Amino acid sequence: MAGSDATGHAGTPQSATTENIDSILTEDRRFPPPADFSAAAHIRSLDDYRAMQQTARRDPVAFWSGLARSEIQWHRPFNIAFDDSRAPYYSWFGGGQLNVSYNCLDRHLADRADKTAILFEGEPGDVRRISYSELHREVCRFANALKARGIGLGDRVVIYMPMVPEAVVAMLACARIGAIHSVVFGGFSSGSLRNRIEDASARAVITADGGHRDGRIVELKAACDLALSQGCGSVETVFVLRRAGNPVQMKGGRDIWWHEAAAGLSADCEPVWVDSEHPLFLLYTSGSTGTPKGIQHSSAGYLVVVAATMKWVFDIRDSDIFWCTADIGWITGHSYVVYGPLACGATVLMYEGAPAVPDAGRFWSICERHGVTIFYTAPTAIRSLMKMGDSIPARYDLSSLRLLGTVGEPINPEAWMWFRHVIGHERCPIVDTWWQTETGAIMIAPVPGAVTTKPGSCTLPLPGIEADIVDAEGRSITDPYQGGQLVIRRPWPSMLRAVWGNDKRYRETYWEPSGAHYYIAGDTAHRDREGYFWILGRSDDVLKVSGHRLGTMEIESALAAHPRVAEAAVIGKPDETKGETIFAFVVPKGARPTAEYAAELTRDLRAWVATQIGPIAKPETIRYADSLPKTRSGKIMRRLLRDIAQGVPITQDTSTLENEEIVKQLQGQV
Ligand code: WTA
Repeated sequence: MAGSDATGHAGTPQSATTENIDSILTEDRRFPPPADFSAAAHIRSLDDYRAMQQTARRDPVAFWSGLARSEIQWHRPFNIAFDDSRAPYYSWFGGGQLNVSYNCLDRHLADRADKTAILFEGEPGDVRRISYSELHREVCRFANALKARGIGLGDRVVIYMPMVPEAVVAMLACARIGAIHSVVFGGFSSGSLRNRIEDASARAVITADGGHRDGRIVELKAACDLALSQGCGSVETVFVLRRAGNPVQMKGGRDIWWHEAAAGLSADCEPVWVDSEHPLFLLYTSGSTGTPKGIQHSSAGYLVVVAATMKWVFDIRDSDIFWCTADIGWITGHSYVVYGPLACGATVLMYEGAPAVPDAGRFWSICERHGVTIFYTAPTAIRSLMKMGDSIPARYDLSSLRLLGTVGEPINPEAWMWFRHVIGHERCPIVDTWWQTETGAIMIAPVPGAVTTKPGSCTLPLPGIEADIVDAEGRSITDPYQGGQLVIRRPWPSMLRAVWGNDKRYRETYWEPSGAHYYIAGDTAHRDREGYFWILGRSDDVLKVSGHRLGTMEIESALAAHPRVAEAAVIGKPDETKGETIFAFVVPKGARPTAEYAAELTRDLRAWVATQIGPIAKPETIRYADSLPKTRSGKIMRRLLRDIAQGVPITQDTSTLENEEIVKQLQGQV
């Protein structure tokens, strides 16, 4: 639970945290906004940013209400801007009605009908341009297909698709009829898919035969069949998009091809007007327990802040080609591939595949060929492309870029500087954006025309976001040498509304440890003398592997479900490229394996985790021992395991261990 280990990066020992802070505090490079960027920006100066922040602070409800009026077209205006009578179950813009797909599509038809909404490139190289009017037609047609299968207001629909335009169509079609979508990342296995379908009691699944990834076909329909063969009784219909052309089995009465379902249906579909608080989507994410939680977002509050942050942080303009490399299976894909850009009438670039296909120049080639102006990606991607050398990006014309962004994990100053020099040619501001699945939209990030950046810092909270860093007693920490819990002191419109079907988990995870006084993010951070935020990492048992969020407990329970495993403990080991890698300590059933058997078991267990959760959750390293080090109360001594994984001297007191020999086994010495 948040607060259980407030010492630093995903539980890094105190000494390492202090080291981190030391290295960060010696970072004195500063990059003021370029004058020409500021001159044309939505927010043009630090004074303007501060003025907005002051306005928001004086009267937050009036501030957000103003934005809600300017960013959204309402079917019926709201009359209760904010309601905290059921805190921490807050609600925003009560009495109002809207439709999110209407806001992303119909309202642009008057002046942007022919503008490209989605510029798509598949991994094999196929390119499609879809205008706002075409997207509108496709969404309406598919919304009618959903309706024809009896899907309507409040029904849950799981989307398990490759990164193709139809994934966006599917999301917006759900929004159009008030169905609640739950996108499951295409890299998750059938087991993860099944759990999510069952938790949400989804009535339909929208999938594809397969998608292209890393030169292979990811067989999504087959994974879906497997999930459905093992439960998922709520699913009545499976829509299947033909994408990769691989053979699939269609189950009569249940499965239907997308093109057949949509054929002959009208390209008009009256939007269903929903209340502001109607759930737009669920998105499952990992927490501190073995089961992922269905983070529930609202319609109006969510849309207001994703649209506003497109302007504040990405400074979006009509002429931009905006490329966020995230998969729609993650929150970043929801907010900054789909809802944010489309709410603003932007052109969004969507790429289906892996960054190094056919070679490590793919991203830069896409930027060049499509004239990308804003490029938003994860530090892991930057680090791995950086490793390939400067000569690769140097082959491409990157002069269309005007703004760069990062998200998902802390970025080390070295990668930040590389991004600035080699990709941004010193010209483009970099926005390091801190936020979470739960926050819905960016919370802390430089406003690029206003705020001076420092490599490795996400800088200052956005207007209306009362971020703070607190100690165990909830007192604000301003001492730059002291890390603490990152919290948000006031509710904001795009915050999560619930954990699907689990009110208690919502309350207990995010609010109760603070007595419901503030939202607890689960990260540790510190603030420098100028009030800039520096994120150190998670303070709970959540890992960030290549920017993907995974729970240690989830991986542990997957391992423990293997017939040859008695017990397992998983920790994150710091890694230069991926941020963290997964390191597992396993107690096998029966005798400890010989070297040969251990190698075979390791292969088995890695494959097993890939089928239970997904390939991204495969442990990089597995060590075997006769037991795991535990405290007297039976808690696994994770800090000890972290030291062992990193091969550093053990800082934890091991005298309480029943069998000190275990440490040697875990270190791989005996
Ligand atoms: C981490 C991703 C440092 C953080 C949008 C957070 C970051 C978790 C940053 C949420 C950043 C996200 N600097 N760390 N700019 N952005 N994080 O839910 O630990 O997949 O709590 O949302 O990612 O991950 P999630």
